[in-house]
Amino acid sequence: MKRYKVALLSGDGIGPEISGISIEILKKLSQKYGFDIEIKEEYFGGIAYERLNDPAPKATLDQCKASDAVLLACVGDVKYDALPRELRPESGLLKLRSALNLFANIRPVKIRKPLLDSSSLKKEIIENVDLVVVRELIGGIYFGQPKGHIIDTKLKKAFNTMVYDSNEIERITEVAIKIANQRSKKICSVDKSNVLEVSQLWRDTVLEVTSKDKDLNLSNMYVDNAAMQLVKDPSQFDVILTSNLFGDILSDLAAMITGSIGMLPSASLSNIGPGVFEPVHGSAPDIAGKNIANPIAMVLSTSMMLKIGLNEIEAADDIEIAVDNVLSKGYRTADLDNGNCQVLSCSEMGKKIIQEI
Ligand code: IPM
Ligand code: MG
Repeated sequence: MKRYKVALLSGDGIGPEISGISIEILKKLSQKYGFDIEIKEEYFGGIAYERLNDPAPKATLDQCKASDAVLLACVGDVKYDALPRELRPESGLLKLRSALNLFANIRPVKIRKPLLDSSSLKKEIIENVDLVVVRELIGGIYFGQPKGHIIDTKLKKAFNTMVYDSNEIERITEVAIKIANQRSKKICSVDKSNVLEVSQLWRDTVLEVTSKDKDLNLSNMYVDNAAMQLVKDPSQFDVILTSNLFGDILSDLAAMITGSIGMLPSASLSNIGPGVFEPVHGSAPDIAGKNIANPIAMVLSTSMMLKIGLNEIEAADDIEIAVDNVLSKGYRTADLDNGNCQVLSCSEMGKKIIQEI
């Protein structure tokens, strides 16, 4: 029997509500497909700061490294905003990404047919959207040095550094090429090379790496234009390759095409160790504990974990099908309420999905 070790980081806000559903789904699938899955839950984010004074404690990072995959819900709460930056939940997330060398963040944006009317964009604009954002995750302005505050002047100043070396750009480009080769061989690299040196290096390096693959169709776009095009004609995109900050912004934007940010899963991968699988949305403190969150992004992240992290393809596909079935029966969570559906609580939605598996 195949045995897997999964580290579960439920984190903050709606995290525990949505991750409970993933546990149930994994239990059911392990019985159905005859594999054993050992889930170890660890403190991470604000809750870890409260218990252990560190949003990414060493014990948690060690457990993640020793696992086959990490399933993460979400971290953060406004109540931690006043903490020194290194103690904030978001810093814990960056520490985890960096400690596991998760340089490649994969964010698929796919329209689910039953949700065609749920997007704020018109149906005709979004109906053929199927794209993937490939975001560099452990470099760029998120991690660049130097950074900080200058307190020597009368004027307050703060700064960050947006920096990439060609190795960092090469390896994320290789990931985008691999994904593009499984799809329609189209990559759009997004940068701001009309203004930024770092983006010029990005553009030049992407061109160099992709030119080795003659079948690839590479285009380049400035990030401001890419934001506009994503709203104007999103189906022109297939693989979007971009840096850390631009990928952060564009993936939230792209999420709205699907109807709700509560629908978007992601995978963060390294070349060697376990990946982290997590919804793109945050911890939504405003609705935490109310049992109204949309668990689907978390459920789909669980599917990505099974597929990419554990190579349990059939089990992963079961989840996708179950989600589509539930949606096509007209069940929605509140974020997708269009006045013409049956609105379920978070746990009810979880039960419906589990029933379909
Ligand atoms: C994301 C999030 C994180 C990021 C935050 C929570 C640090 O917005 O995963 O997109 O900016 O990367
Ligand atoms: Mg983000």
